[in-house]
Amino acid sequence: MRAYAEGMRIAIAGGTGVVGRHVDRLARLAGDDVVVLARSHGIDLVSGEGLNLAAVDVVIDVSGPGKGDHGGPVAFFERVTTNLLNAEEDAGVGHHVALSIVGAAKINTGYYAGKRAQEDLVAAAMAEWTILRATQFFEFAEQVARPFGPWVVAPKVRSQPIAAASVAAELLRLARSAVAGNHEAHGVHEIAGPHERGIADLLRELMGARADARRVLELPLPGRFGRGLRDGSILPGPAAQLDDVTFETWLEAAR
Ligand SMILES: NC(=O)c1ccc[n+]([C@@H]2O[C@H](COP(=O)([O-])OP(=O)(O)OC[C@H]3O[C@@H](n4cnc5c(N)ncnc54)[C@H](OP(=O)(O)O)[C@@H]3O)[C@@H](O)[C@H]2O)c1
Repeated sequence: MRAYAEGMRIAIAGGTGVVGRHVDRLARLAGDDVVVLARSHGIDLVSGEGLNLAAVDVVIDVSGPGKGDHGGPVAFFERVTTNLLNAEEDAGVGHHVALSIVGAAKINTGYYAGKRAQEDLVAAAMAEWTILRATQFFEFAEQVARPFGPWVVAPKVRSQPIAAASVAAELLRLARSAVAGNHEAHGVHEIAGPHERGIADLLRELMGARADARRVLELPLPGRFGRGLRDGSILPGPAAQLDDVTFETWLEAAR
């Protein structure tokens, strides 16, 4: 157990990604000592090459498979989580915080089978742990959009999206609270944005703000995964914490 006022040494797995960059920025602003674990920083979390967690108080895992990862989501999240948990045990790291997705563990297919595998490994870990399940980031609309001739295609998704920066702030709050010995921070937590919005709807607003005249085509994805995206399964439950940053506020700040 540590006094939070000292500042923490935090390892951020995926600290260069969409949400990881915010965790890194906010942690440094707060005076924490940050170690970024990412391939662009010489550490491969799938192979474990370069991974060293000496003197780290807490690991925040916001990594995700990206370009160049060909093993599929289950293999990625299993390898990364196992390597992190083993390295944490070797180095005596006190706490593990993982970012997951609201509803993913129930849907448990496609990409979400990877998140389920990650959650299961974390929940079975010897170490103390926290899982924060978040809804889709506002940034997700662009991450999943695909150009198609004169159109831009987006999947049909019922979501209650949130700013990635708000998710980063909550991950850090939970990490600090856990390092300070507060059990409120342990276990599974859920966070979402203020309003339900379709992902295609966000994309239309984003493109409108950029004077991008292409039309957005909303397509239902096939199978159990696609059904789960559009039937309300990834909407937050009644216990979720709701952030108050709206898409419009986020868009204004991003301009
Ligand atoms: N996007 C959403 O709407 C959303 C919502 C809720 C939860 N989540 C979860 O949040 C996490 C982060 O999502 P994101 O959208 O921020 O991801 P992202 O932008 O794709 O970032 C992925 C990060 O993982 C790192 N990474 C990838 N492969 C690696 C490897 N082999 N070794 C070390 N680092 C590796 C990347 O850095 P390098 O490329 O430099 O290695 C990057 O920093 C994911 O687990 C995702 O499931 C996402």
